Amino acid sequence: MLIQIDRPNSRHSLPCPEPSSEAPASYSVYIETFGCQMNEYDTEIVRTLLKHHGFRMVECSEEADAVLLNTCAIRENAHNRVYGHLAMYKPLKEQRGLVVGVLGCMAQNLKQELMTAQPIIDVLVGPDAYRRLPGLLIQALQTNQRGMAVDLSEYETYDQIMPERRDGVNAWVAVMRGCDNFCTFCVVPYTRGRERSRDPRSVLEEVHQLVEQGYRQVTLLGQNVNSYRFADWDFARLLAAVADVPGLVRVRFTSPHPKDFPPALLDVLAGHPTVCKQIHLPVQSGNDRILQLMGRSYTRASYMTLVEAIRRRGPIALSTDIICGFCSEGDEEYADTYRLVQDVEFQNAFIFKYSQRRHTIAARKYLDDVPESVKTERVARLLELQKAISLKKNRALIGSTVEVLVEGEAKKSHDQWMGHTESNTTVVWAKDDGSVSPGDLVTVAIDDASHSTLFGHLHRRNV
Ligand code: SAH
Ligand code: SF4
Ligand code: F3S
Repeated sequence: MLIQIDRPNSRHSLPCPEPSSEAPASYSVYIETFGCQMNEYDTEIVRTLLKHHGFRMVECSEEADAVLLNTCAIRENAHNRVYGHLAMYKPLKEQRGLVVGVLGCMAQNLKQELMTAQPIIDVLVGPDAYRRLPGLLIQALQTNQRGMAVDLSEYETYDQIMPERRDGVNAWVAVMRGCDNFCTFCVVPYTRGRERSRDPRSVLEEVHQLVEQGYRQVTLLGQNVNSYRFADWDFARLLAAVADVPGLVRVRFTSPHPKDFPPALLDVLAGHPTVCKQIHLPVQSGNDRILQLMGRSYTRASYMTLVEAIRRRGPIALSTDIICGFCSEGDEEYADTYRLVQDVEFQNAFIFKYSQRRHTIAARKYLDDVPESVKTERVARLLELQKAISLKKNRALIGSTVEVLVEGEAKKSHDQWMGHTESNTTVVWAKDDGSVSPGDLVTVAIDDASHSTLFGHLHRRNV
């Protein structure tokens, strides 16, 4: 039986409900997270909520009574990955009744349709309804009843819930949720609902607690952080207040929208040593007709003016997102994007093929008419260009020293450390005599570089 749970929007975030006596501590849950940093953060919120209700978190599906997939809907391949993982859990479901839950943006986007097409799913919960998850899971585990909660809220910010983090060095901190921009290609306004900002007092309280717990960096998150508004607080004020929290070594934020990037934000960036000199500024296209079709509310010229204003403040690394093959994009229009990438010379760029998304304005109004092969070729050419630019920038650092926040062991070797520069470039170097540990700031002398990574040796331990 399918249960639709309606919860009226409340004006304020609700506190965590009292732990339920129905939740036997023995129920174990494994969570897989797909998508962006906001989803990583939401998984941490979900962990807190579940633990509060007596669930135990485990590190693999074999040990789990329930598996939760926190999903993304941004492009079709994000959906496909989730379908692949659902298929993978079928044998466990059949053998021992594994309970399967789908959370996040894909759950919100497809709702009932996903429940109908995928009988393996027991529980389906959207990003604003996680307070319903413990109850629905218990119901599925104890009575085999399927359940769904997909209400979007205008107020939910989970601001009284301290996420259960595991990183130890960097902590994601959501300062706003939702998006009101409705870029025509984008599904996020439909999966995450309306913009709402978190009380700055709760953000600052959380950051103080993080410092006490030993965290060295926080990354403030929002789909469009410069839309942050709470009473007379805007994002520049919030960023300055966070940057002033004693004990923090680095503060980052993502993403600002180029249409409303206030000079005050640049003042904070330039004036606070803890704010990393790095901005992710998604451009999407370098052509005015395409930008207008995308509903981005800026032009190539105004974007370039903003880039120049940023660069006048000193060395600030820029990265971006680009979509290739948006509806009706011609060769010359794509060439404008290519030239913009040549002109700006981003440190890094995330380049995507346009993927038509259900509900979006583009899906309703425009034809997805650029052939797949053309999209693929455009992405490949831009990637090649960006790789050459990144390689040139990284190689220019050979022979110099860079300051790095040590984050942990390198993915490829237990004998190496990994961290990032202030510009957010990955640095890898050999472990030394044991004087360095995650959370330290160190200076690394750079000996070699690829387009994505700097390689070096320890020069000095700073803090
Ligand atoms: N809020 C962020 C973007 C979040 S989505 C911002 O505006 O900066 C991350 C990126 O995914 C977007 O910047 C865009 O480049 C890409 N993206 C979004 N929808 C897409 C789609 N339908 N097809 C391909 N890429 C898309
Ligand atoms: Fe999507 Fe645009 Fe909102 Fe970013 S600003 S989440 S691209 S609608
Ligand atoms: Fe993030 Fe994907 Fe949702 S990018 S906001 S998890 S659609």
